[in-house]
This record gives sequence, structure tokens and C-alpha cells, in this order.
Amino acid sequence: MRRLNNLVTLFTAITAFFFGSFITRILTMVDKCPAPRSGVAKLEPHPDLFLVILVFSAPSNVEMRDGMRDTWLRLGQPLRQAYFPEEYLYLPSYTAAGGHLQMETVAAQAHRLQQYMSWQQQLPDLEEPHIQRNIKVKHLFAIGTDGQMGATLRAELEHEQKQHKDLLLLPRLHDDYLNLTEKLMQSLDALTRHYEFSYLLKVDDDTYVKLDNLLNELVSYDRKLLRNRAEFGHEPLPELYWGYFNGRANIKVKGHWRETNYYLSKNYINYALGGGYLLSRKLCEHVANNSYLLSSYVSEDASLGTWLAPLRHVYRWHDVRFDTAYTPSKCRPYHMVLHKRNQRTMHDLYTGKLCTHEQQGQRLFVSYYYDWTKPADKCCDSIVA
Ligand SMILES: *[C@@H]1O[C@H](CO)[C@@H](O)[C@H](O)[C@H]1NC(C)=O
Ligand SMILES: *[C@@H]1O[C@H](CO)[C@@H](O)[C@H](O)[C@H]1NC(C)=O
Repeated sequence: MRRLNNLVTLFTAITAFFFGSFITRILTMVDKCPAPRSGVAKLEPHPDLFLVILVFSAPSNVEMRDGMRDTWLRLGQPLRQAYFPEEYLYLPSYTAAGGHLQMETVAAQAHRLQQYMSWQQQLPDLEEPHIQRNIKVKHLFAIGTDGQMGATLRAELEHEQKQHKDLLLLPRLHDDYLNLTEKLMQSLDALTRHYEFSYLLKVDDDTYVKLDNLLNELVSYDRKLLRNRAEFGHEPLPELYWGYFNGRANIKVKGHWRETNYYLSKNYINYALGGGYLLSRKLCEHVANNSYLLSSYVSEDASLGTWLAPLRHVYRWHDVRFDTAYTPSKCRPYHMVLHKRNQRTMHDLYTGKLCTHEQQGQRLFVSYYYDWTKPADKCCDSIVA
């Protein structure tokens, strides 16, 4: 009897062993499967990221990349700020009739900015040296490597990759400014396939981010959302699309950026300006999973706005702290994402000099709060005082 028991145990153990190996094999096979659109087969493993930072960069812009590596990409790791109060954050809810997600009013946007500024002012007093949070963040510079690229440049990129391990090389993408929408699709395809992450921040390589402030606020937002999830009942949880929105941008009809296929509306459907915006994971998956069915337009940020337009669970967080237009607005200490900065001004920002990009006679962008209660052509007339 005893012998039989032993045999049974042995048999079970052997079966379990083979079954285990089989599962492992399947899992590694899945892992090696290249992402379908981008053809990216493998990326450095980074389990459970909170935030992925996707930087669009041209192959030869190594100096811009170094400028970012030496400055803001180091911020917030570890995060030493006091917790950002959850009550300062807006969480939208659905209307009873029609199930529409309620965006923030203009008055509430202005009030929240005031709250943020006073919080920022007391921040040094709130600084708690024992607070040290390790939030998993990974940045990647997306670069297309298909097509004619000099052997020297190719070798330099390989060297840079060995040194920093932070390039997302896209073998099927010819890196050209007319291919930015394809770059976005391929990057989302590769990143959602190879990484688990909660949020993705897309920026250009001339964007500076006060990453510690942004992370601190995003962590609090995420906690607030999860703590309140029961209140959404059977409704889908809001998915974040955070940036600076425009609802009446002109469709380009001339020049390099000319759109020849945008017939959906008179202006671009509203979208967050491409200098910097943030998406929660499900929205990235939505784009990656449906990339073969989505129409691409020349403008990458406008394409994204159009792809997300009909979804009712998208929380569009219009934020004047995103200074992400084609030209900077007046220098403000509350700005968090700052577009159109060069290496010198990035370094200045990093060392606390905020306004060195302003030049005499330069035309500055005028910021506005977004009025979600009005049709798109009246979206953007509430100027920030
Ligand atoms: C990118 O742009 C080039 C030239 O503008 C074009 O030949 C190529 O087909 C485009 N698409 C991809 C996926 O690289
Ligand atoms: C995207 O596809 C993956 C794999 O099929 C699936 O697990 C995921 O839920 C999909 N996400 C969305 C938002 O459709």
C-alpha cells in the first residue's frame, strides 16, 4: 500500500513537472511574439510600471536626448514630496440621463489652479524628509530605423542603446515628420504588448516636464479613482486623457502638414496638443488593438483626439499647467509640462530659472480654460487671468 502511495506521488510530481514546463514554454513563446504593427520583438523587462514616458525623437537628436537624461528625467525618482491632497483633484461622474461623463466647469478649473498655487507655496513647509516613495517610471525615446540611414548614425544609435537602454527602436518605421501618426501607433503597439503600465506620458524631445510634480499629482489621482471605484457601479471607470485641449484648431490645407483626408468636421475634433499629454493604459490599448481600423491623419495629436472622440468613458482633463502649444505662453511658476524648450532652457529650468526662454518682442501663446458646455467653436474663450 505504502509503495503504491509513493508511486502515485512520484507520478503526480512528474506530471506536474512536465505540465509546469509546458506552461512556461507557452508563456515564453507569447513573450517572444513580436508586436504585430511595430514588429518589435523584445524590450528590456520592467515589471509593473506606474508611468511610461514616451519621447518622440528624431534619430540624430542625441544632444536633445542627453539634455533630457541629465535634467528632468531624473526628477521624482525617488519622490520626496508630501502627498498631493486628493480633495484638490476633480473626479468626474456620469450624468443620470444618458451616462455622459461630466467635465470640469471653467469656474472649477480656475479655482483648482488657485488651490494648486497656494499648495505649491507651502510645499517647502510640507516637505517631510522621511517621505520617500519609489514610483516605477521608465522613459523610452521612440526612433524609427527603417529606410536609408547612414551606417555611422546606425552605429551611433546602437552605441547609445548599449549605454542607456532607453531607445524604443522601431524597425518598420521610416523616421519622417510625415510619419508621426504611424510612430504613435507603433509605439503604443509595442509598449502595450511588452509592458504592464498604468499611465503613459507622450512628449516631444523639446519638452521639459516637472516630473516630480506631475507624478505626485498623478499618484493621488490614481488613488482617488481606485478608492471611489465602487461609486461608478456598472459604468466603465473614467480613463484619463490629460493635457491642453483645443476644439477649434484649423485643419491644415497647405504646406508640409497638409491634410487631404480630414472630412469629418470643419475643424479638427478636439484633442490634447502634442507637446505633452497623458493617457491611461486602456486608452493606449484601445488604439493599439484597433490600429488597423483607425484612420490616420498627418497630425498625430489630432488623430488621437479623433480616435478617442466617441468613447464615453474618456475623462478629458484640460489643464493650463500644460504649456504645450506651438509657442510658449507667458512664464508661470505653475507650468508643469513645457514645450518648445531647448537644451539651454531645459538646464535653466532644472536649476530653478523658469523664465529664460522669454525674449523681447516674442509672440506669446494666450492660455484659456476649456468650456465643455459650449459647442467646439466656443470652447476656448475663457482666458486665464
Ligand atoms: C514614412 O515616410 C516615408 C517618406 O515620407 C514613406 O516612404 C514611408 O512609406 C512612410 N511610412 C512608414 C511606415 O515608414
Ligand atoms: C486589447 O487586446 C488585449 C489582447 O487581446 C485584451 O486583453 C485587452 O483587454 C484589449 N483592450 C481593450 C481596451 O480593448
